[in-house]
Order: sequence, then C-alpha cells, then structure tokens
Amino acid sequence: MKIMPVSMPKDIDKYFFNRVKDINMINTQISTIKLDIPPQLLITGYRGVGKTFLLRKIFNDQSSDILTVFIDLSEIVGRQKGKLTEEKVLKEILDSINKTISNDMTSYEKLCNTIKSHIDKLRLINYDFSDASHVLDIPIPVISDNYEELSKFVMELPQNIVDGSDKINGFLIAIDEFQLLKNIDNPEAFFWLIRSFTQKQFNVGYIFTGSVSKTSDIINMINGQEGAFGGRLIQINIEPFTYDETRQYIKEKSNNLQFTDEGFKRFYSCTMGIPLYINSLSSVLPNNIVCDEKIIKQTLQLNIDQVAIMWIYIWGRLSQGEKDFIIYLLENNGATRFTLDNELGYSKSSITRFIDSLLNQGIIEFINKEYVLADKMLARWLKIKYETNGFYPI
Ligand SMILES: Nc1ncnc2c1ncn2[C@@H]1O[C@H](COP(=O)(O)OP(=O)(O)OP(=O)(O)O)[C@@H](O)[C@H]1O
Ligand SMILES: [Mg+2]
Repeated sequence: MKIMPVSMPKDIDKYFFNRVKDINMINTQISTIKLDIPPQLLITGYRGVGKTFLLRKIFNDQSSDILTVFIDLSEIVGRQKGKLTEEKVLKEILDSINKTISNDMTSYEKLCNTIKSHIDKLRLINYDFSDASHVLDIPIPVISDNYEELSKFVMELPQNIVDGSDKINGFLIAIDEFQLLKNIDNPEAFFWLIRSFTQKQFNVGYIFTGSVSKTSDIINMINGQEGAFGGRLIQINIEPFTYDETRQYIKEKSNNLQFTDEGFKRFYSCTMGIPLYINSLSSVLPNNIVCDEKIIKQTLQLNIDQVAIMWIYIWGRLSQGEKDFIIYLLENNGATRFTLDNELGYSKSSITRFIDSLLNQGIIEFINKEYVLADKMLARWLKIKYETNGFYPI
C-alpha cells in the first residue's frame, strides 16, 4: 500500500515528488560555494508547502565535499520548553556541526587538528574545561557566560573546517523556522552577528527558511534595506503544487485514489495544492470508490481535526488576544487596521503586537490594505468547529 506521509519520512526519496525547478534553482545558488561565493538564501512559503522537505532533500543530495547542517529551531523550542536564547541557538549549531563532521570519518584526523588549533587560538581567559562539551571528542571550553567567545568559536568553525580539509569545499547551514529568532532578546543583533561572520567566510552558506508572511517585520529585520543582510539574501518562495502537479502527484504517489472531475476540483480547492493537506486529506479519503464533490466535502467535514491537525497545535500556543484577532478576521473576511483599532476591543499597542506575531508566524497576510487569514484550512477548521460545537476552539 502506498502512503503519503504527513510528517518528515526517513526515506525522503521514496515520497518526494517533483520540485525539479526549485531544486535546480536552489542548487544553482548553492553551487557558488565552490567558487568562494557563499550562498545566502531566504526560503519562504506557506505552512506545509514543503520547505523543510525540499531543503532536506537538497541537502541529502549534495556531493560529499559539501557538508550540511540542518537546524530546526522549533525543535529546540519544543525540547527545552524554555525561552529561545542566542546561546541555545549557537550551541545547537555547534552540536549539529559536530554530528555532521563526526559522520564524515574520512577527514576525521585532519579535522581534529584543525579544531584543536582553532580552540588553541581562542584560549584566552575564563575557560573552564571541567564540564566540557565535545567536538570530535575534543573537549571544548565551557563558555556559557562568555557569549562573545562562544559566538566566535561557533561561527568561525565551519570555515575553519573547510580550510583545514582538502576534501571539503563548502559548508551549508540551514536554519529552519528562523522566524522563531524573533523571540530571542535581541534578534537584530543576532542577525548582524551572523552577517558579520559571513562577510569573512567564502565557503559557508546560510539558508534561512520559515513560514513567515512576505510582509512580516522579521523579513525586514533580516533582509530589508536597514536589515542585517540588506537585501543580499536571495529570497525564494516555494509555491504550492499547481493543479496539474497535484493531479500527477496523486497519480504517482497515492494509494490509487480516484476522482470525478468535479471531485478533483474540490480536492484541489480544499488542499490549495499544499502537500501537507494533500497528504492528510488523501489519507482519510476512501480508495475503493471514485470520489465526487460530495464525498470530498463530507470526508473533510468529518475528519477536519486530522486534516488540519497542525492548526490544533498552533492554536493552542496563541494568546487569547491573537485568537480573538483571528476570529474577527474570519467573521469579517479580513479587516483594515482602522477597523481593527475601532472594533476589536483591544488597545492599539496590543493590536500591533498581535499583527507582528501573526505575520511572523505566517498566520495572517497583509493584502490590499487588509489583514486576512493566510491559510484557508485554518478558516475551515474554525468554521467547522463552530458549526459542530457552537463555539470556537478554546
Ligand atoms: N515535494 C513533496 N513531495 C511529497 N510530499 C511532500 C513534498 N513537500 C512536502 N510534502 C509533504 O508535506 C509535509 C509538509 O512539508 P514540510 O514540513 O516540508 O512543509 P514546510 O513548508 O516546512 O511547513 P512548515 O512551515 O509548517 O514547517 C511533509 O511532511 C511531506 O509529507
Ligand atoms: Mg518546515
């Protein structure tokens, strides 16, 4: 039986569909790393559109002279349940670099020497080796109270690894869910920190990715005119599958799902070509009958929690004010700032906070001077919940 996974599968190639153009475009950018031109990319797109899957695939397929590190900030937040800090992010980068180079045993010895000499260079004062973490079993100093040293150590390490090994020509670092960096104390400074190191590193590429709205302030902060990268990050938006791509995808990868023409149109409009929804709706559709419009509608209605499961988690993390804001947009089909200020019943400063937060999470968008919900599945979930329970999810 064929399965269309709704979470990251181990065997990426088995489930991965198409994206040939995106892969070529991103690989073209990435390949400049071998020419001492470090790629710097910002990959955006709707939730569930397949940014993470795509990048994982691209990283998996890199030649062995390119080391790759994939940092998922949502994992740190989930694991530690605490506030995201610069230190935690840097340590995660360090940990991931460590895992990557430990896997690459061919250059093990040389890398050890490189890293040792790198540590030696840094051996200034307040270093405490007692409770050390390790890179390739080389203890590295505990520098928790010395942010500057930690950041220098971590940020310089990838280029030092490239320089210290004749088998490695580049180091790619992806920072997934980068919008979460908004929650650290001084995100601007952190972006500037990364930027300042990237200027001196010719074989280290950074790829930021996340589900942020194109009009969010975090994009401005990182890549706007005044932002740390000042427009130097090449921005690539990953689009949902087209109608035809979705058709082809279902044909190739589904467990023999069948549709009438109208049924498929409905299926496409419900899933909006977003692979996450395509997969989750497919998993609840019957595969022994030809699905028409009515079956699609009913199945979605009955299984909305399963199809929109991502929103249950996200909803649970929102504040009451943010929820009220979303419900207002839902019931009014969007709203201008002026209307929100007058009708929502929250102070202007609170509304500004809701807007910032929801834009940065890609939950709302600003289109034609109005704020609107970015994802129709969220709207559908809320509506169905309201219809069935008489109240919105709390
Ligand atoms: N090219 C693809 N082929 C097959 N399935 C895909 C593809 N892209 C995405 N998917 C499916 O959709 C799911 C969601 O994709 P992914 O997690 O990469 O989205 P995302 O854009 O990173 O979302 P988020 O913003 O929530 O992190 C994946 O688990 C996978 O099952
Ligand atoms: Mg993702």
